[in-house]
Amino acid sequence: MAFSLPSLPYSLDALAPHLSRETLELHHGKHHQKYVDTLNGLVEGKSNADLDDVILGADDDKVFDNAAQHWNHSFYWQCMSPEGGGQPSGELAEELDRAFGSYDVFRKELAEEAETHFASGWAWLVHDGSELLVTSTHDADLPLKHGQRALLTIDVWEHAYYVDYQNKRPDYIAAFLDSLISWEFVAQNLAAAT
Ligand code: FE2
Repeated sequence: MAFSLPSLPYSLDALAPHLSRETLELHHGKHHQKYVDTLNGLVEGKSNADLDDVILGADDDKVFDNAAQHWNHSFYWQCMSPEGGGQPSGELAEELDRAFGSYDVFRKELAEEAETHFASGWAWLVHDGSELLVTSTHDADLPLKHGQRALLTIDVWEHAYYVDYQNKRPDYIAAFLDSLISWEFVAQNLAAAT
């Protein structure tokens, strides 16, 4: 069975005004779809494989890049919610306090990582097996490849924000952090990682 584009967990208008319908149509319907289509073309005949296995076993840069971008985007869509943003609560909030000192320090570290990441890539909150870390990866690279468990990501490729924010990446990051993060999804990932 071929890999397929997952449906968005909300409508195309649901994240406006922070991310417009046009951005989601292009980002999900064109960019993510293209990674899926390219991946299927590359692994034709052996696409029963698990996506994680394809990524970890890739001996070809094109296979890795397209498989990883399929993984990253599928994860990214779930990191956002129309009711998202603000501060987390419960065990997740306690873990962030323990790791970073406070939510404000965590927010500042993640925003700086995402804003200053050079060129295309992804900013992440990960669990490395013992602690929570803010990090970033270039192009299609992802925590799975480095033995880390992804809890949250922000796509900082220009295609994620250029329609709505042009070159103002910090404004996109602020909107993501303050109005879009699905803390529920992050909490689920933390529970699965620990
Ligand atoms: Fe993207």
